Amino acid sequence: MDQKNNWVFAIKEDELADGEKKVLLLEGDKVLLLRKEDAFFAISNKCPHMECPLSKGTLEQYVIQCPCHDWRFDIRNGEFLDAKEIKVPTYEIKVIEGSVFVNIEGAVI
Ligand code: FES
Repeated sequence: MDQKNNWVFAIKEDELADGEKKVLLLEGDKVLLLRKEDAFFAISNKCPHMECPLSKGTLEQYVIQCPCHDWRFDIRNGEFLDAKEIKVPTYEIKVIEGSVFVNIEGAVI
C-alpha cells in the first residue's frame, strides 16, 4: 500500500486517560482519538452509515457504538462488526517522548 506520511501532533499522552476519547481537528479532518490502557487509536469521527459523530458514541473495550443507529466498530482496525467490508477510516499513531502524533495522510480505509 502506498501510504503517505504527514505526521501531525495531536495531544500530550497524559491529556487522555484510559477509556477516554477526544475529537481533534487535524488539517481540516475531524479525527477521533481514543485511549485504551497504554494504546492510542485514531479513527474518522464520521460514521460511515450516515455520518453521525462517533465521538458521541459509547466505548466498551475496543468497540465504539454509534449514537445514531447503534452500528459498532472495532477501533483497532475500523471494521463494522456486522459486515467487515464496511470500515470507518483509521489512522496510524505514534507516541514520541509523551507526545501523540497522527499520520493524517495515512488513513486506512
Ligand atoms: S449514522 Fe452511525 S449507525 Fe447510522
